[in-house]
Order: sequence, then structure tokens, then C-alpha cells
Amino acid sequence: MIVGGTIRVPGDKSLTHRALLFASMVRGRCNIGGALHSLDARSSARVLRQLGATVSPLREGAILTITGRGRLRRPDAILDCGNSGTTTRLLMGLLAGHRFPATLTGDASLRKRPMKRVTEPLTLMGARFTGKDPDRLPITVHGGTLRALEWRMPVSSAQIKSSLLMAGVAGGVEVAVYEPHGRSRDHTERMLRAFGYRVEEDGGWIRLWPTGQLTPFDMQVPGDPSSAVFPIAAAILAESGELRITGVGLNPTRTGFVSVLERMGARIVAENREESFHEPVGDLVARPSSLAATEVLAGEIPGLIDEIPMIAALATRALGTTIFREVGELRVKESDRLGLIAANILALGGHAEVRGNDLFIEGTGAPPRGKVVTEGDHRIAMAFSVLGTLPEARIKVDNLACAAVSYPGFPAMLKTIRSRG
Ligand code: S3P
Repeated sequence: MIVGGTIRVPGDKSLTHRALLFASMVRGRCNIGGALHSLDARSSARVLRQLGATVSPLREGAILTITGRGRLRRPDAILDCGNSGTTTRLLMGLLAGHRFPATLTGDASLRKRPMKRVTEPLTLMGARFTGKDPDRLPITVHGGTLRALEWRMPVSSAQIKSSLLMAGVAGGVEVAVYEPHGRSRDHTERMLRAFGYRVEEDGGWIRLWPTGQLTPFDMQVPGDPSSAVFPIAAAILAESGELRITGVGLNPTRTGFVSVLERMGARIVAENREESFHEPVGDLVARPSSLAATEVLAGEIPGLIDEIPMIAALATRALGTTIFREVGELRVKESDRLGLIAANILALGGHAEVRGNDLFIEGTGAPPRGKVVTEGDHRIAMAFSVLGTLPEARIKVDNLACAAVSYPGFPAMLKTIRSRG
């Protein structure tokens, strides 16, 4: 395929969730430009409305307005977080500091995902959780007065870290969280600093002092680098042309995939860098490239966790064996991504193997052909659809509609970048 043009990708999912959550805790009105309007973002908006915030409809191109009441209010129905782990875990932190019970649930995928990773430390802070299984939704949060916490996370996770920082904010207490393997995304820390909270990082510890105050804010959400990886990969696989993606978030805790793909030989350049609302933003320009295998180390994984399905699909076209070290966390994403990546590569005639928590992918020149099982996982669906743009590929993805969880208009984008070539 010939690739070409200049596109934008949907607003950053992590930042949209955080903007919605913080704005709902503000007394007054906040205006958010560029917000994501995907299914996951709608899940956050829906539950925050139930908790007392006035949130305008999420529509492409519209400024999102959120008017909070200073605190959350007791909901009169169960909070359905849909497919969104970020909504669930971050909200649990906020609810831990509120003196009312609230029950959270989600879709079949979310109800399978582990919650003890946040309920355990939040319990130590003073919240109580009830439900049939303490590790699985539905769970009722009984919040109240919180105490300070020092917590060593078992895995480097922005959702756990942010949940505990949110509890620190809602409860007005100090929180210190240790990240064991590499830095996970730091959007929560950056936003909290903007609100005047003292947040420091030292030797893997992130410490929050409740010195700030949530006040009305305006914000512009950049394009989501985790969505940008798909058109970038399509450009890398193309035969000729060049694709520019403007206004993408370039926070260094999110751009690990650019470094890894560059190491594999991909031609990607970041241009027009600027700082916007405490986050680095710029353009990414990608060109067709020949790829060679690499080893992705354990410490790099938190910085590219959501991009692994796409990098793995690209690794099937690279010369040699690509290794992803310590990617066990992929088993508890929207699907068992580790199992699905390997199974789908095999189903397409490629070579992949999971050994312990490591993933090995051997590149091949043979065209990928076969059926991809997504189990409704948006990133699996998009990664293999992009692989399907190879000239000789015959890939049937069983559910591409699920892309709407994070990337509304994904199939149209794939057509656009082609036809412009
Ligand atoms: C997210 C953190 C990551 C990521 C998810 C979004 C966030 O999850 O996979 O898509 O916005 O904090 P973990 O923190 O569980 O790794």
C-alpha cells in the first residue's frame, strides 16, 4: 500500500479519564478540548454523572464541559464502568475518600479483571470493600476517613498508582507508592502538580503531600500515542509514502514504543515539539521501513504496555526473533492479551511462543493469512487489522467494532491513509 497525508488521532484516553475524574471533584465548571469520545470515555462520563457531576455529551470536536460540586454525591444506582479498567480503579480511589457506599460493575471482560491490586492498599488506608469475590467486580466501596499510606506495588501500574494518589487527594492524606520495574505513565502526577500538590519522585517512590486544591481548569487533550501507534505501524508496513500525525502526546512515559520501533529500524521522527497543559505534544512522521528483531527489556514494558499488540504484530515482519521480557501483565488486560497475541500470530501462519512471562516472535516473509480472534479486545482487533494492510495478507478479524472502545473511526482512518497515497 501507498501511505500518505496528515491525520489526527482521537484524544488521549488516559488524560480524558483523569480530566473527567478531577473535574468532577472541582466546585465549578471545567472545559476540556480534544477529549476522547470513545466508549471508555463515555463510561467515565456516565458514572460521574451518577455521582453528581454535570457532564456535557461526548461528541467529536465538541468542547467537553464538566461542572462538579466539590465532592462526589451518593449514587442511587450501580455504577457500570463498561469495559474501562481505568474508570473503575481510579474511581475506587476517589470513592475511598467519600463517606457513602457505591457499587461498581462492568462488562464481562472487566468483571474478570483483578481488583485486589487496588482494594488491598485502599483497605489499609481505611476504606472497606464488600462483594462476593473481593478481587472481582461487582464490588461495593464503603469510603470514609482515610489514613496515610506507604505501598510497594507488585507491578508498575499507572492505574494502581493513580488510584492511590486519588485516594490521597479525596482523603487529604499523604501517599507514597513504589514502582518496581520502570516508570508507568505519569499523567496523574503532572495534573496534581498543576493543582498545587507536592508530588515527588525518588528512587522508584512517588510521594504525594495533600498541599493542593482542585480548582476549575481548562485543558486541551493531545492525540493518544496508544492510538497513533496503529497508523504509524501501517505507514511502516507500507511500500511507499509518508504519514504525519499531528498533535500527539509525547510524554516520555508513553513513547517507549517509538524508541523500540526505531531500534527495530523504523523511520519515525518527532517534530514540532511543544509543551501543552503540562504535557509534551508534537507530530510523529512515519515512513515505510525494513524491520529487524529486538529485545524489549522488563524495565521498558510499563512505558509501552498498550502498544505491545501492535509491536508484536510488526515483529512478525522483522528479521530475527523479537523478545518481550516480563509481559505477564498482558494476561490481565481487556483480554488475556499475551495468549491472544501468540495464538493469533500462530493462526496467521507466523511463529510465536510464550515462555514463562516472556514472549518470543520470529519474523517471516510469508504473508499472514487466517482468522483473528479478538475476544472483543480493541487493541488486538486494531493491531491485526493493520497487519492485514500488507499486500498479500488475507486476515479476517472477528470483531472490529470493538475498536470503538478507544478509537472511534478506526476503519475509516485505515482507508483514508491509503486512498491519499
Ligand atoms: C492506564 C494504565 C495502564 C494501561 C491502560 C490505561 C491508565 O494500565 O494499560 O490502558 O490510564 O492509567 P495498568 O496501570 O494496569 O498497566
